[in-house]
Amino acid sequence: MQRRDWLRNGSLAALAAASFHGARAAARPRLRLGMIGTGMRGQVLLRELLRRDDVDVVALCDIEPFMLKRALDQVGKAGKPGPQTFGEGGDPQAWRRLLEVEGLDGVIIATPWEWHAPMAIAAMQARVAVGCEVVAGITLQDHWDVLRTQQRSGTPYMLLENVCYRRDVMAVLQMVRAGLFGELVHLQGGYQHDLRAVKFNSGDPARPYGGGAEFGAKGWSEARWRTEHSVRRNGELYPSHGIGPCAMFTNIHRGNRFTRINSFATKARGLHEYAEAQGGKQHPSAQLKFSLGDVVTTTLACENGETILLQHDTSLPRPYSLGFRVQGTHGLWMDVNHSVHVEGISPPHQWEPFEKYGDKFDHPLWKKYAAAAEGAGHGGMDFFVIHAFVEALKADAPMPIDIYDAVAWSAITPLSEQSIAEDNKTLPFPDFTEGRWKTRKPIFAFDDRY
Ligand SMILES: NC(=O)c1ccc[n+]([C@@H]2O[C@H](COP(=O)([O-])OP(=O)(O)OC[C@H]3O[C@@H](n4cnc5c(N)ncnc54)[C@H](O)[C@@H]3O)[C@@H](O)[C@H]2O)c1
Repeated sequence: MQRRDWLRNGSLAALAAASFHGARAAARPRLRLGMIGTGMRGQVLLRELLRRDDVDVVALCDIEPFMLKRALDQVGKAGKPGPQTFGEGGDPQAWRRLLEVEGLDGVIIATPWEWHAPMAIAAMQARVAVGCEVVAGITLQDHWDVLRTQQRSGTPYMLLENVCYRRDVMAVLQMVRAGLFGELVHLQGGYQHDLRAVKFNSGDPARPYGGGAEFGAKGWSEARWRTEHSVRRNGELYPSHGIGPCAMFTNIHRGNRFTRINSFATKARGLHEYAEAQGGKQHPSAQLKFSLGDVVTTTLACENGETILLQHDTSLPRPYSLGFRVQGTHGLWMDVNHSVHVEGISPPHQWEPFEKYGDKFDHPLWKKYAAAAEGAGHGGMDFFVIHAFVEALKADAPMPIDIYDAVAWSAITPLSEQSIAEDNKTLPFPDFTEGRWKTRKPIFAFDDRY
């Protein structure tokens, strides 16, 4: 049955891809793009689109007039023509009309997580290329559905995982490819970011972070939707910032793959304490029991013998760090202490400052576009992730972070939830590539184009 499925989907994918590419007359110099979700993240990505002279932002959709107006103001300030707008009346299905805008080449999806899969699926069915914010879906089935739609339609899909483009991460990718660390053995990463003031606020649009204990309908921006996931779910809820770079270092889906996964969660204390401190013991948010463990630790095993450890740590006071560690038979990099140790080069048993290596291995993309990325979100990496989507789409080339990356990185969430629910059971990791990982070749960031 599985084999028949594979054959069917394989040939469908080939047909669909051929017709998609055939329908578009090869490479195009300009793109007509839309955006669904013009909230805090959408506005950052919109700024990157508006800075480009090869993109026309022709349609925007948000159900929150405040957010839509902010986005329109950005377009006006950039001196660009006004896009068509959708959703101002609050219709949560208005985005479907955006997908019908004539000549739309692609859409950026920057809505709450639960909307990503349905919006991406409908866009791909409408032959509108997708640049989707992290995550790809919620349930394991969502991930299969997004994958199957991409395969059947052949419509380009890229997960907008920006951390893959962080300057030190890209320099480490160069070090890995140069063999500096020898053969990779173990990697770590995660999402270690105190989100308490993101998950609770006062509901005042002028102050999206902190200042209250509200969430859900009374909260604003991410507090409106993200906090509910911490109430109901216990797992690695935000895997891609950590796993994205680790997967690129280890060539996942290109000669390697995830084979097994398990997760452990600590008790949940941080959000409760914070809600109580913000709103008082009687506040409804302080009465709740949160499901999400304060620190969730996930281990992945890879076909080629590496382990990858992810930590999700968003409910306790702590400085931001993604906690990367890339370790091989000759040495390692750790980002918390910005240090490298390479046997035979570094003094024995001592760290050396990352800068010594970072400058030497600076990625050609960063060398070329550092000035253009100046001022872009998250230290410049948001420039690169939009640049990659736009350039790959214009060139009709494969997306550098593709559908297999998207669904596997994002499916870590439902799998980790399942593992925790089943007493930390180690689960087999689905092979979304259905065997293609054996022959696919790495394509991410091999030159200075994107
Ligand atoms: N890659 C990164 O560094 C990064 C950073 C922040 C957020 N994100 C991701 O970006 C996404 C958005 O996060 P955010 O911080 O902008 O949240 P946000 O709440 O500020 O914005 C989401 C927007 O989507 C709108 N929306 C909700 N339902 C809609 C619908 N049915 N149709 C149209 N619009 C709808 C909301 O009104 C809101 O304006 C999330 O997936 C988040 O994880 C990524």
